[in-house]
Amino acid sequence: MSFSLLQYSTSLLLLLPAAYLAFRYLRPSPPARARNAADEKPKTIMQPAHTDLAPPKDDPFTLAQLAPFNGTDPSKPIYVSIKGTVFDVSAKADVYGAERSYNVFAGKDGSKGLAMSSLEPENAVPDYRELDEADRKVLDHWHDFFSKRYNIVGRVIDHPVNEDEEEEEADSDGASAADPPNL
Ligand code: HEM
Ligand SMILES: *[C@@H]1O[C@H](CO)[C@@H](O)[C@H](O)[C@H]1NC(C)=O
Repeated sequence: MSFSLLQYSTSLLLLLPAAYLAFRYLRPSPPARARNAADEKPKTIMQPAHTDLAPPKDDPFTLAQLAPFNGTDPSKPIYVSIKGTVFDVSAKADVYGAERSYNVFAGKDGSKGLAMSSLEPENAVPDYRELDEADRKVLDHWHDFFSKRYNIVGRVIDHPVNEDEEEEEADSDGASAADPPNL
């Protein structure tokens, strides 16, 4: 009788994980669109989307006027501009503040560097026109990422890239910019 008990428990031990794995594989995965939309269900280290954002403001900034908001003066907010949209990132002073890892993007429009996934100061400039479609897509993902997490306080009025002149190119690109950045 020792046979059946031992055999039975052994096969159970093997069967349970096998059944679990089979279930995991066979279960239909949610449609890609639903997964992309579910920013609030993060599988990354990135902060989740915010649901408490203020209505976007449209205050005009020159690039020079952005500079003081670079995290050096703790009494001032910290601003990051992407494609001319100015975001208040003060809530993340731990990464955008003075001498922090992403301070290179603070107080300026560093669109080109974001698009290139570069932290080099010489790349943290507004003009990304020399970049290819793939880099521009990364940039659009960042714009989307920030739009869902930071309040918009204004726009850069002397940004070198005029999106209106780029419209033809954008229209011919059917790709979606809905995916969050893969970091
Ligand atoms: C070894 C390379 C890298 C590591 C380990 C890394 C790690 C991280 C981590 C842990 C976060 C989340 C930070 C937080 O929520 O507090 C983050 C966010 C971020 N990373 Fe990186 N990163 C790397 C490279 C880069 C590069 C090259 C760029 C240049 C574009 C970049 C841009 C960003 C940005 C813009 C955020 C968003 C911060 C926010 O929530 O506003 N990272 N990264
Ligand atoms: C930040 O801005 C202030 C005032 O515009 C400037 O004096 C300082 O050098 C800047 N610091 C960095 C790290 O860019």
